[in-house]
Amino acid sequence: MHTEWNRIVQGDCLRELPRLPTGCADLVFADPPFNIGYEYDVYNDRRSRQDYLDWAERWLREIVRLLKPTGCFWLAIGDEYVAEYKVRIDQLGLHLRNWVVWHYTFGVACTRKFNRSHAHLLYYVCDPERLTFNADAVRVPSARMTTYADRRANPRGKLPDDVWVLRPQESPEHYRADMDVWYVPRVCGTFRERTEHPCQMPLAVLERIILATSNPGDLVIDPFAGSGTTLVAAKRHGRRFWGCELSPRYAATIEQRLQAVEWGVTPHEPAVSQAAAPRRARSQRAVPTR
Ligand SMILES: C[S@@+](CC[C@H](N)C(=O)[O-])C[C@H]1O[C@@H](n2cnc3c(N)ncnc32)[C@H](O)[C@@H]1O
Repeated sequence: MHTEWNRIVQGDCLRELPRLPTGCADLVFADPPFNIGYEYDVYNDRRSRQDYLDWAERWLREIVRLLKPTGCFWLAIGDEYVAEYKVRIDQLGLHLRNWVVWHYTFGVACTRKFNRSHAHLLYYVCDPERLTFNADAVRVPSARMTTYADRRANPRGKLPDDVWVLRPQESPEHYRADMDVWYVPRVCGTFRERTEHPCQMPLAVLERIILATSNPGDLVIDPFAGSGTTLVAAKRHGRRFWGCELSPRYAATIEQRLQAVEWGVTPHEPAVSQAAAPRRARSQRAVPTR
């Protein structure tokens, strides 16, 4: 079976994934619809609980089939279904390495409960003894270095914690020099990186995942490509990629973003300070607690 890589396929991943060869993928990143009533242009994000979980089980099985024995799987998911996914992925035989909590800002302002400001990133591998983990590619300065001037600090920095906030010292390319804090926001309307997609993930998050858990030349697959963030990050960092997206409109945007990488356009958004957050948050569309 010959498959053409480095492209986005417009269609239903349940139809497209079975066309890919078994054991081809080094890294699969899936950020499926959360089934919380998000307004996508084609997909209906309001299914019955059982229907949604039956559907999830079907594409999860395909993903496991695609993984190399040394491969890994990242799932982005919200509170509503994280437990159900965890049970199912465990049952499919993958091994949990990290349960990362990604703390974002610019969520919905709630009135009768605390504001949600996180999503779950479950990092699984096929084999805990044979995996890719490039620690040096994602080290960040430690407090010993930045705060305490402690000579015992490892000059190469430390590995990030499993709560991802991405402070300026951890991701300098995403900050202007005058900014001292930026909790990786969901991608807001005012950002240069922003596409029309309603739940676009920031490149900073995908870049950390791809740099740490894949190697140049590896194949990265995203069955729910959305705005194409995973594919853009993979392309920028010399990985092969393959993505699927149901919506023709979103798929067309992905093509454009991938083309922009070719032209050397840097898609990173200007960083936003915490002080600016309330004003911008008010300008956000009212969307569910994603
Ligand atoms: C949460 S979004 C992904 C966002 C993406 N991670 C990003 O950063 O832009 C989920 C996407 O899955 C797409 N989708 C839903 N069902 C699909 C299916 N069966 N096959 C392929 N894509 C699907 C939706 O159209 C939506 O764009």
